Amino acid sequence: MSEIDSVRELAERLAREAGRIQRERYETDLEIRTKSAAIDLVTEVDKACERLIVEGLSAERPGDAILAEEGGGQDRSDSTWRWIIDPLDGTMNYAHGYPRFCVSIGVVREGVPVVGVVFDPLLDELFAAVAGRGAERNGRPIAVSRETELSRSLVATGFAYDVHRTRDDNVDHFGRFVKRARGVRRDGSAALDLCYVASGRLEGFWELNLHAWDVAAGNLIVAEAGGRTSDFSGGPAPFAGPQTLASNGHVHEQMLALLRG
Ligand code: IPD
Ligand code: CA
Ligand code: CA
Repeated sequence: MSEIDSVRELAERLAREAGRIQRERYETDLEIRTKSAAIDLVTEVDKACERLIVEGLSAERPGDAILAEEGGGQDRSDSTWRWIIDPLDGTMNYAHGYPRFCVSIGVVREGVPVVGVVFDPLLDELFAAVAGRGAERNGRPIAVSRETELSRSLVATGFAYDVHRTRDDNVDHFGRFVKRARGVRRDGSAALDLCYVASGRLEGFWELNLHAWDVAAGNLIVAEAGGRTSDFSGGPAPFAGPQTLASNGHVHEQMLALLRG
């Protein structure tokens, strides 16, 4: 087996194992704390999932760098391989018993995204992509939608945890899309939103101020499913950063026009 195949297999196994914890602890009493803001939550399940993934990686691939959201990994600049992990994307949903959350694992080799795995444990849907080999859901190829009109599109967005404090709050963009698209969703898991663009359930997704762990897997899955990712001026998608836009490609320019105001 090639190294990339074993990396993908390991990412899938660890995502499924973390997903099992999420399923088992779903709608149970949880210890919930806040992080950067009163609405930025972390539960004991975020931490348990991260611990499982980081321990699994350290046992199997001790030389690899790990960037994990809750700080459990050891990131280093001298490694060829870097794992970027969101152990539970959709923590607010999880804490409220709203059934939309996932595990997201992206792998970068020499700075280039090469593997992305996102697992939704309630729907038992595993999205995966390897650079140059396409994207899949539960082993079957997926592709972005063919819709060309924003007025017939379902799109999604999200709001960063500083939304109560900042003027750059995405509310203006949200209003414009509500008036132009067929529908707009805010469902609380950026990694799943990206996978839904990749599988044609959504035509597009945008958000401000996402982190690398939110998009590392999903951006690759969108690209491998034939979609387009960029910043809000149409330039290359930042790995993490102030602006994330993903679409089926066909409605990208229409979305950019609205985001530019
Ligand atoms: C959050 C989710 C949410 C998005 C936030 C993210 P978390 O991640 O992806 O949809 O709107 O910006 O921070 O905190 O649940 O891992
Ligand atoms: Ca996240
Ligand atoms: Ca998270």
